[in-house]
Amino acid sequence: MGEQAEDSGRSGDQVNLTINGKSISAPSSLSVIQALWHTGYPRVKSVGCLEGVCGSCRVMVRRVDSREVTTELGCQVLIEEGMQVNFLLFPTPTHHRYQLEEINSSWEVQGKFHKFFPEAEMCRHCGGCNQTCPKGISVELGVELASKGRFEEAGALFIECVLCNLCQTACPESIAPNHVGLFSRRVSAYFHIRPSNLINRLEKLRKGELEIIK
Ligand code: SF4
Ligand code: SF4
Ligand code: FES
Repeated sequence: MGEQAEDSGRSGDQVNLTINGKSISAPSSLSVIQALWHTGYPRVKSVGCLEGVCGSCRVMVRRVDSREVTTELGCQVLIEEGMQVNFLLFPTPTHHRYQLEEINSSWEVQGKFHKFFPEAEMCRHCGGCNQTCPKGISVELGVELASKGRFEEAGALFIECVLCNLCQTACPESIAPNHVGLFSRRVSAYFHIRPSNLINRLEKLRKGELEIIK
């Protein structure tokens, strides 16, 4: 489901499910959060944008006839008959503190990365982060690329990241893959080589070869 479900509150077959152990009945056209509201359960904790962007509404979902438990975004998943849903609440650890100004040149980036994220090299390639990511990001690969100093490629993988922290919670090595992704995107932008045509124009300005019309 790419966008928030239509909140007609009436359309769709009526389905029965449990959310946080509470049995509810609501139209199948509703998302998990809409279904809660529809049944008069005024949940606001872990609810933010309702657009699949803020990453607040993390839920654990188990469907009928499946032993698999998935992690999804409650505003983006439509309810189904027999579904069991639980909201995931946990603190958001922020144990990586750095300033990009601490990195003097792009030559230093990889070394600094391993200083800021020493645990990234401990990745055991268990795939837990991939499985838990509700945005389908190749999280494990992103961590591997960043560890090898391939920050542009790593950062590109995390473009859709909503910083829900599920990957971090799933990681047995306490790696914060989403923070690795953010770091990769930041350093890529910070040390980005400017477009050659812009550099050429600035050089012409410096030499007085280009007139500025005011
Ligand atoms: S990479 Fe991690 S923080 Fe980002 S969306 Fe996926 S699970 Fe959430
Ligand atoms: S969950 Fe952690 S250890 Fe497992 S693959 Fe992802 S980053 Fe590596
Ligand atoms: S409420 Fe923001 S992603 Fe669901």
